[in-house]
Amino acid sequence: MSETARGILIVDLGTQYAQLIARRVREAGSWCEIHPPRTALEVAGRMNLGGVILSGGPASVYGDDAPDVPGELLELGVPVLGICYGMQWMCQSLGGTVEGSGEREFGHTSIEVLRPESLLEGIAGRTVVWMSHGDKVTRLPAGFANYAQSDTCPHAVVGDATRGFFGVQFHPEVSHSVRGSEVLHNFLFDVCQMPGDWSSENIATREIAKVRAMVGEQGEVVLGLSGGVDSAVAAMIMHEAIGSRLHCIFVDNGLLRKGEREVVEEEFRAHLGMDLTTVDATDRFLDDLAGVTDPELKRKRIGHAFIDVFREEAKRFDHANFLGQGTLYPDVIESVAVHGGNTATIKSHHNVGGLPDDLEMQLVEPLRELFKDEVRKVGRHLGLDERILMRQPFPGPGLAVRIVGEVTPARCALLRDADHIVTSEIQAAGAHETLWQYFAVLLPVKSVGVMGDARTYESTIALRIVESQDGMTADWAYLEHELLRTISNRIINEVQGINRVVLDISSKPPSTIEWE
Ligand code: XMP
Repeated sequence: MSETARGILIVDLGTQYAQLIARRVREAGSWCEIHPPRTALEVAGRMNLGGVILSGGPASVYGDDAPDVPGELLELGVPVLGICYGMQWMCQSLGGTVEGSGEREFGHTSIEVLRPESLLEGIAGRTVVWMSHGDKVTRLPAGFANYAQSDTCPHAVVGDATRGFFGVQFHPEVSHSVRGSEVLHNFLFDVCQMPGDWSSENIATREIAKVRAMVGEQGEVVLGLSGGVDSAVAAMIMHEAIGSRLHCIFVDNGLLRKGEREVVEEEFRAHLGMDLTTVDATDRFLDDLAGVTDPELKRKRIGHAFIDVFREEAKRFDHANFLGQGTLYPDVIESVAVHGGNTATIKSHHNVGGLPDDLEMQLVEPLRELFKDEVRKVGRHLGLDERILMRQPFPGPGLAVRIVGEVTPARCALLRDADHIVTSEIQAAGAHETLWQYFAVLLPVKSVGVMGDARTYESTIALRIVESQDGMTADWAYLEHELLRTISNRIINEVQGINRVVLDISSKPPSTIEWE
């Protein structure tokens, strides 16, 4: 798709916001790709380029650590938007002057618009933006005009409308910049004249066509379904593309949530008519986990068991020379270094827990250019069931990392029942819409209780309920008192073996979302 759609090249100069810029551009309806400066020119050559965005970054144009940005990016004949460091680099490269300022400008800043036109079309007067810079542009390159200023930064927005070159000293991509989306919108549609045709409908159509072209008339694909949204949408795309030549494998490892296997079988086999093999490997996984309490060892054992089971199953398909994966864009770009060596390190993310390289199958990854929200849109467009589409993230090692201590069949059953109460009550109350994850954790702690007239000595369930944007950081969330009371009462009354429910009120960092 990237080969044909008109797109924006985002050059990552070391910012923490590269993905955010890309998401804003995509949300506005334009295709874009993020690349480090090292490969930017080559990529620009193969893209149907509509414009370039140079990101911010931590360096100073005078610093030893300044990224090596190719000057030819300013000679491609397309508009360029420099953000923060990107603006400083562009202005200096075109003959302007950048100076270190004594004071650092950080946080909310009010800027005064001097020219409410072109990049700032429709934005007049003063507006609040998010700044984070030390250096600033003190003399503009020839042909540039000043578009906005702040009290400490005389050139907050600059530009040469003739060439379509603009620089913003603030970060339009962050939501603290009140009119930031409009600035990006103006760049895309007024300055770059982008078509605004990036939608879930054409993402799906083009990805389906790409899979068809890659797999050909004869090829077959094996795909591990995890029950999560990524592998599910990848399966939908591949099924549209090659029908019964897609073979899905779902491994029931005994560490799944209540009803998970049934939902997957009902949706993919019964409803969508896909070739789905369910492998019941519960005994195998639980045997491997017997006596293991160390979290890392649990993860390793589960990962290895997945590989073995998957490899055995994949052997059944003689002609399956392709392996489908639900790899997402953030996984692909995460480890592309800004200053890195000659080859970018691309992390290969495996939904089925880490597959070996010697599988000798070619990878088919129809989601590798998409963000999670785009994946959901494509899934919805292709008619994927909402139960799968809106599923909360679930870790590859499943319930095992939510059972602190040994994983036994009995402890799995206990947690599964308690977790089902947590999720169904939260969903029934409609409280899940603002939550990232909400689940139960089984603790290796027994305590004394009283039920009826009898003393009990039973296990503890912790409730983990968090809000997050991407799972990298998270805040614990507080539910309505009544809802918490219902959840607690139901767990203690209905799940035999639990006599205490506690609430985890730790944020990430320093805690993690999962307990192991
Ligand atoms: P942590 O516990 O690191 O989790 O704060 C962050 C997010 O990642 C999910 N998670 C995993 N996802 N395989 C996955 O596919 C895993 O091994 C794994 N471990 C954690 C977790 O549920 C949360 O959303």
